[in-house]
Amino acid sequence: MRLFVGLELDEPMRAALARLSAQLQADTPGSFHGPEMYHLTLAFLGEIAPERLPALKQTLSRVRFAPFSFAGEGLGRFEKGVLYCSVRTPNAPLFRLQADLCARLRGDGWPWPHQPYVPHITLARKVKEIARWPAVPEMHTQVGAFALFESARRDGKLCYTPIARWAAQEMER
Ligand code: 2AM
Repeated sequence: MRLFVGLELDEPMRAALARLSAQLQADTPGSFHGPEMYHLTLAFLGEIAPERLPALKQTLSRVRFAPFSFAGEGLGRFEKGVLYCSVRTPNAPLFRLQADLCARLRGDGWPWPHQPYVPHITLARKVKEIARWPAVPEMHTQVGAFALFESARRDGKLCYTPIARWAAQEMER
């Protein structure tokens, strides 16, 4: 199973991103994601054997974080043609969650991302040039849980499906 850990977006943020994407699609060629694909990746795990899923869930269940929120900020493009909406920084709770998650993964011998974390929401792939950069409206989402996602092709279409979730805790300061 191809797996990654990430955050789901609430409906208003998905809708705001979908409107932004529609503006981009009007004059920018590319392979655009549908709103059901929008998410914020925390850690990409890659191929994991299904029989190891219970152990992975055990590791993930030990990640602790308090509820927080994050906001969309600007549009950007990675070299490989990925068009994304960036996340407003600084966001200490987001980076703390991502770092704690990576530490748990590493500690239990799971694959973990070695690169510095660049939080982004992918909107499209295979984008060569942006004809016009629309302004990014104010948008944010509450985070009450993180999820383990499966990335799989269904009828030839790439789908990201949350297969388990872990809720935030009220934590003492
Ligand atoms: P991307 O959108 O910037 O490509 C599922 O593939 C999610 O995991 C995507 O959000 C993807 O980010 C992210 N991801 C991070 N590293 C990846 C990798 N090496 N291969 C595929 N996806 C990766």
